[in-house]
Amino acid sequence: MQNPFKYGQIVTGSDFCPRPELIRQLEEHIKSGQNVVVYGERRVGKSSAVYQAAINSKPRIPLLIDFMGIKSIDALIKRILKALIAQKDKQGMMTSILKKFAAIRPTLSLDPVTSMSTFSFDASVEIKAESISEVIDLIKDLYGDKKVVVIMDEFQDILDLPGSREALAILRSVIQYQTNIPYIFVGSIRHKMSAIFIDSDSPFFKSAIPVEIEPIPADEFGVFIEKKFTEGKRKIRRERIDRLFEIAGNIPGDVQQLCEALWAVTKEKESIDAEEIKSALELIFSRERSAYENYVRLITGMQMKSLLAIAGRGGKSIFSNEFMKAAGFTNASSLKRCINRLTDLNLLFDYKGEYRFVNPFFRAWLIAGLS
Ligand SMILES: Nc1ncnc2c1ncn2[C@@H]1O[C@H](COP(=O)(O)OP(=O)(O)O)[C@@H](O)[C@H]1O
Ligand SMILES: [Mg+2]
Repeated sequence: MQNPFKYGQIVTGSDFCPRPELIRQLEEHIKSGQNVVVYGERRVGKSSAVYQAAINSKPRIPLLIDFMGIKSIDALIKRILKALIAQKDKQGMMTSILKKFAAIRPTLSLDPVTSMSTFSFDASVEIKAESISEVIDLIKDLYGDKKVVVIMDEFQDILDLPGSREALAILRSVIQYQTNIPYIFVGSIRHKMSAIFIDSDSPFFKSAIPVEIEPIPADEFGVFIEKKFTEGKRKIRRERIDRLFEIAGNIPGDVQQLCEALWAVTKEKESIDAEEIKSALELIFSRERSAYENYVRLITGMQMKSLLAIAGRGGKSIFSNEFMKAAGFTNASSLKRCINRLTDLNLLFDYKGEYRFVNPFFRAWLIAGLS
């Protein structure tokens, strides 16, 4: 039997642990053509939930556009075109795309190494921000009002575009006329998503209904995980599953990553105990070690002290006398500077006033090194 645990990708169907209330809510918004903004931490299951709800909303089909890492308008347009050609009816799609964008002379070519199709534009033609409205119009031309759900994932990365404000303004104005097409904006970096949807001077201010995604309740997700192990003839007790959730900080993607490793280090008929959990963590450490060593190289001794203290004691009330004393700080402002650097490096993040590790396995690795 193949490893049933999947992480780092969108999961649907039997890989998707049911979240009926959330899915029902998303489906209802989709049905009424409502625009939605989805907030939630990384790896909590935002993309999967939105995608699953979109799949359930036939005859609409999901058009998934990934904004991750885009740095130019050019790249943005290409991502949207790429999402369009990923759909089935390639031939008709290409013809419409080529017609609409004749001015920028798009060509589709096959990369000989990866066999993936890529778009390129005539380099001598400057792509202007107005092309954004053309490409969004194209979505409606191609699908009409009732046949598509547009998902804009990692939407906050649009802020990294030069002229992002203009891009946002154009996007907002063209989307606002497509009243019956649901647009779902998904993002993982809270302060950036807030800057887009909550700041009153942003073009997207109050333009979509907010939906907050929390981790899957541990008892429901625990049953789902337990069933996968049982189907694969591995025995695991409830307390052990609780322990996995604790190590993974309750984040679904991290729980699955740990389970994937547990599966890899065990065989049929074996049971999962402390020993197996230790081997699974060691497997993860060996896969990720070079990244951890890089983090360590990037930080100073003081920053390391504060990181180790948070790893060991948790990241609540870190400016209390007790915490500062334990961490070896006498001065709150120097601790604050360390923490700022650690959040800038994306090692820690602020979760409602508590500092948490972005990667719970890095935390486990630090603790393992301490003992
Ligand atoms: N409903 C779910 N059932 C099972 N695993 C899930 C579920 N949602 C998320 N996951 C796990 O989390 C990982 C990341 O999910 P994803 O939807 O990409 O999260 P996000 O978009 O919030 O970063 C998945 O690969 C999977 O391991
Ligand atoms: Mg995602």
